[in-house]
Amino acid sequence: MTSPTRTDLIPSLLATAESLAPQVIAWRRHLHQHPELSFEEHATAQYVYETLAALPGLALSRPTPTSVVARLRGARSGRTIAVRADMDALPIHEENDTPYRSTKPGVMHACGHDGHTSILLGLATVLAGVRDTLAGEVRFIFQHAEELSPGGAESLVDAGVMDGVDEVIGLHLWSSMPVGHIGLVAGPAMAAPDTFQCTITGRGGHAALPHDTIDPIAIGAQVVSALQQIISRQVDPLEPAVLSVTQFIAGTAFNVIPNSAYLSGTVRTFDAALRAHMPRRMERLIRGICEGFGAHCDFTYELGYRPVVNDAALTERLAGVVSRTFGEHVLTPLRPVMGGEDFSAYQQRAPGVFAFVGAGNVARGITAAHHHPRFDIDEASLEVGLRYLVAATMELLEG
Ligand code: NI
Repeated sequence: MTSPTRTDLIPSLLATAESLAPQVIAWRRHLHQHPELSFEEHATAQYVYETLAALPGLALSRPTPTSVVARLRGARSGRTIAVRADMDALPIHEENDTPYRSTKPGVMHACGHDGHTSILLGLATVLAGVRDTLAGEVRFIFQHAEELSPGGAESLVDAGVMDGVDEVIGLHLWSSMPVGHIGLVAGPAMAAPDTFQCTITGRGGHAALPHDTIDPIAIGAQVVSALQQIISRQVDPLEPAVLSVTQFIAGTAFNVIPNSAYLSGTVRTFDAALRAHMPRRMERLIRGICEGFGAHCDFTYELGYRPVVNDAALTERLAGVVSRTFGEHVLTPLRPVMGGEDFSAYQQRAPGVFAFVGAGNVARGITAAHHHPRFDIDEASLEVGLRYLVAATMELLEG
């Protein structure tokens, strides 16, 4: 007698996933009502831990104070597939008026990580039920702190969660894509999100006597304009790059030229060489402008997450999984996005693919951008995400 292959199991597991959808929504609503900021996900991690502890056959661990890892080892040896979800919320006050809105003023799941966590709980539930028929291991990574540098992924990798992993997958619910669609990008998919800060120190004085001052606001304005010239004149126009100044803080009164001005912002790139050049180019330009006007500048540049680069062969394979599971119309061509994600930390250790699962619904008014106080998801996306992960995980276990 030959045992069924793992892919033979997929149709029945997808049916299980479908019947689990109301539970996944319930988990998501609980998490949505009780959001926690990055590195503070204590109750969230406890909730995840307790939910997983009720399932058969999972080995649970807590690599960091607010993360949870569950290992499901099948009856026979085989490949090891890691699946990751992030769990943190954002310092945003929710403006939605839903029954499940945030109960914490100023804290909100405004990026869908509540959904990611719930989908992964669903995957663990579905697969734990068929442990005896599985070969290999599925590792469920419930990660803390995706939203706040230095991020949680790197510390989990350091703690060994990727040891022995053959492939890693993850997903992001995506409100700008209609529910029912799944987007996969082969190769570079999400940018490296670096940050910079700059304090320009001039000499303050009376607003009516500018010649007795060194005006850091006028100098700062030139710096803001000139920085864009790096993108438009020094970067290959076919190479994606963003430089945004997002803070310009200076002054206290209409008739006072302040002593200093503070600027900060972000640089987004994919190319490693371009990324490596950016700090020096920016500092040279800012210093030149400041020195030209007799001002002083302190410039710092911090590297953020690495870019998310999806393994091309694995992406193609998963595109096949999506087509077979949902039909070809579900697969949506997607361009790389300039947002960042610390899923990239896992991809340093094994080939990985980060998918986008549509969660928007124009007809139902679910259109707000991620990180917006009115962000929400169409909860039908949770079942789509779960079915995708079930089919993908089983396919990859097969080898
Ligand atoms: Ni996010």
